[in-house]
Amino acid sequence: MWGGRFTLGPSQALDALNRSLPVDHRLWPQDVIASKAWVQALGRVGVLTPVEESQLLDGLDRVAERLADGAAVGAPDEDVHTLVERLLYEEVGPGAGKLHTGRSRNDQVATDLRLWTLDAIDQLDAELAALGATLVTRAREGTDAILPGYTHGQRAQPVRWAYVLLAHAWPLVRDRQRLADARRRVAELPLGSGALAGSGFAVDRVLLKEALGFRSVSANALDVTGDRDFVAEVLFAIALVGTHLSRLGAELIQYASSEYGFVRLADDFSTGSSLMPQKRNPDVFELARAKSARLLGDLVALLTTLKGIPAGYSKDLQEDKALLFDACDTLAVVLPAVTGAIASLAVDRQRMHAALDACLRATDLADLLVEAGVPFRESHGLVGKLVREAERAGVPLDRVPEAVAAGIHPALGAALTQLGTWEDSVEGRATPGGASRKSVEDQLEELRKLFAAAGGT
Ligand code: ARG
Repeated sequence: MWGGRFTLGPSQALDALNRSLPVDHRLWPQDVIASKAWVQALGRVGVLTPVEESQLLDGLDRVAERLADGAAVGAPDEDVHTLVERLLYEEVGPGAGKLHTGRSRNDQVATDLRLWTLDAIDQLDAELAALGATLVTRAREGTDAILPGYTHGQRAQPVRWAYVLLAHAWPLVRDRQRLADARRRVAELPLGSGALAGSGFAVDRVLLKEALGFRSVSANALDVTGDRDFVAEVLFAIALVGTHLSRLGAELIQYASSEYGFVRLADDFSTGSSLMPQKRNPDVFELARAKSARLLGDLVALLTTLKGIPAGYSKDLQEDKALLFDACDTLAVVLPAVTGAIASLAVDRQRMHAALDACLRATDLADLLVEAGVPFRESHGLVGKLVREAERAGVPLDRVPEAVAAGIHPALGAALTQLGTWEDSVEGRATPGGASRKSVEDQLEELRKLFAAAGGT
């Protein structure tokens, strides 16, 4: 392919380092599609006769069939592009040598990888929507279940189970928006850029763009052949998805522990211990948490690769694919497992209810004092004294004798009798976006629509 100016072929050691076929073979469908579009573009400007054009197009179809049958397995070629070209020679003979006219592997690989990435984004979007829809379904069943809401790992205020699940669904909405936004920039056509300075043949790049389903034509050949911003953006969006799954996993691991006992993993989403028969391990969430580290690694490795190289193509860029494929493959196994585990999770409302300690009403008491005319800073301090008194006496906050409470402040004794139920407490915070029934129902409706719609915008 490029051996003309050398007297020796590459050493085995160089070949082992340089070859990318073991990684990039999965780009063959994109390489064939882009090559067919290129053949047609060359035909339109008269570089190929109509006979040559149809010979190459038929040949590429036969190459695709052979690749679908596994022709890439064990192939000796340097990369997917040289593999496709060699197979084309086998199919159509020396005429195959006309395919690479006016094209470089630099614009070719950038085109193939962008095409692959567009599909990968669509797949990922569908998997995120499936997880989001599952969270919404499970949330809808959990509107009446009240449990402690936590900050700093400490019981803070009562909330609905639905509300907790929805707090993990909203990040997925943003993840899908980020992917959809990145997708617009991925859909830019590099083909027709040549190696760095444009093609020597006047191919119609707008027609090429349309044939391949891109949104726009790249503006600068030197930029687009060396640009992997699109990979970095997708890797960032994926790393953040990983971070979100990790946080969701961390929370559910805690709730699944015997200490909390709020949820229980279904048998087919639990793992056991080889030693301790009683164990029901949440491996699915632990692995989701751990895999996020690897996704971050893929992003950091790519950015570090990019930062040192000038505009245009350098072989460093070949490393982009292993990182992007690894990240997409990782989420492709993590997302369905997390979705399945959440779909089948058993929820223990009694355990949730049992964890509702009366100290979770401290804010309600302070608010009741405010209604009685006490400035909030003062009421905060007064309820703090009541908490101290409850701790000293070893009784729940709402069991401090009314007379003792009234001794701290006259309005506090009355406030204790006005507390109402846990439901009242949750409904007391009725601002939009809060944990009240109306707010949760509004969110359920909005999220149901968002996760039903493909495209994530
Ligand atoms: N295998 C290469 C890659 O993935 C294709 C581009 C090679 N270009 C070059 N000028 N050597 O980046």
